[in-house]
Amino acid sequence: MLRAIYPGSFDPVTYGHLDIIRRSSRIMDELIVGVLNNKAKMPLFSVEERVKMLEEVTKELPNVRIIPFDGLLVDFASRMEADVVIRGLRAITDFEYELQMSQTNHKLEPNVETMFLTTSIEYSYLSSTTVREIAAFGGDLSQFVPEAVAVELKKKMNAKRRV
Ligand code: PNS
Repeated sequence: MLRAIYPGSFDPVTYGHLDIIRRSSRIMDELIVGVLNNKAKMPLFSVEERVKMLEEVTKELPNVRIIPFDGLLVDFASRMEADVVIRGLRAITDFEYELQMSQTNHKLEPNVETMFLTTSIEYSYLSSTTVREIAAFGGDLSQFVPEAVAVELKKKMNAKRRV
């Protein structure tokens, strides 16, 4: 029984994340998508909103669960009795940060291994940051996020404009 955690901020989930979720859920017996509730950061979506969107877009994947976490990733992985942490690598620019993170996590908890999946080529440029920017300027989101997420982004941007 192989259980993995795919951690991230998912602010919001994109087609790039969904690609990694789908592919790793085929390899693992169980995949937990860990949604970071980082109190130091100011995300666009609350952790509850991010979890809800992830639940919606993964509802057809029976071995995927969405669970929020705070604190250290390795502590969350130990609590969940996960064997592996999954991360996606888009380009060489991701590598340095990901290497540092996986090595730090391994020092903190030698039982947790990090496995990398390279992002499918059609999503290699995509990030939540660019998606938020496109949404802020009212651009077409259909190539970047599932429809349910695009709807939530539009609602959020309209609400922000009203403030
Ligand atoms: O999608 P992101 O924002 O690149 O994900 C980063 C994440 C959530 C994987 C990372 O920030 C994380 O694991 N945070 C939890 C705190 C932690 O364990 N830090 C030590 C790792 S160096």
